[in-house]
Amino acid sequence: MSDFILQAVAVSKTYYSAAGELEAVADINLTVCPGEFLCIVGPSGCGKTTLLQLLAGLLPPTRGEVRLAGVPLTEPHPDIAVVFQKPHLMPWRTVRQNVLLPLQVAGLPTDEADRRAAEALSLVRLADFADVYPKSLSGGMEQRVAVARALAQHPRLLLLDEPFGALDALTRERLNRRLLHIWQTRRLTAVMVTHNIREAVYLADRVLVLSPRPATVSAEFSIDLPRPRPDGIEYSEAFGRLAYEIRQAIRE
Ligand SMILES: Nc1ncnc2c1ncn2[C@@H]1O[C@H](COP(=O)(O)OP(=O)(O)O)[C@@H](O)[C@H]1O
Ligand SMILES: [Mg+2]
Repeated sequence: MSDFILQAVAVSKTYYSAAGELEAVADINLTVCPGEFLCIVGPSGCGKTTLLQLLAGLLPPTRGEVRLAGVPLTEPHPDIAVVFQKPHLMPWRTVRQNVLLPLQVAGLPTDEADRRAAEALSLVRLADFADVYPKSLSGGMEQRVAVARALAQHPRLLLLDEPFGALDALTRERLNRRLLHIWQTRRLTAVMVTHNIREAVYLADRVLVLSPRPATVSAEFSIDLPRPRPDGIEYSEAFGRLAYEIRQAIRE
């Protein structure tokens, strides 16, 4: 057994297409400990989404290996749930039916699936919206459904790709606070990629900085701020210093 829940060992990814070869991720090594919140930041187009899909087992590496609890990961795994940049909800299914979908695909008994969907929707504060259709939701609510759909899978590992990136700053702040609360009470392990430095400092125990494409890990920061995060921590000197140091480490 490995002490790490997730590991990338010399992972590279090259895309081959009619336009030629494009190296998106180059020789990345990283480890994630159980219970950790890891944020990965990097400039736009550097390979963040590619890296997250590699870590999720959704994309095969060109070289190297991703390991889940020490075991090579070659396809999506029930212990891993992913929240994408866009919510990807089915418009003809209600909120509850959207959350139920992966549970039904996994063949969970109906009553267990119903119980999990209700619990996940209440965690994201959407219990009252279970029977509405996505078209009547705000962007923030749609992303909360996507988070509920991931949580209902009872993953050990939650992977998030700029999940609140398209939302206004206040909504994003609120959802990040909610996410931290869920991560802490559920004792999840979380890996989030983002290009927002302050978001990374607020959420993470550790921040990895990626280089411009092809992505490699160019710096690592320990975020030694109190948990649970006190109100207003974003405005403290320690927070500002960390954000500044990380900003300095990002090349564009
Ligand atoms: N399926 C694909 N085929 C070819 N190139 C791709 C594919 N997906 C992403 N890319 C390219 O790989 C690079 C990294 O993309 P991505 O991982 O989405 O970066 P980020 O999420 O950091 O913006 C970009 O140049 C992008 O155009
Ligand atoms: Mg991306």
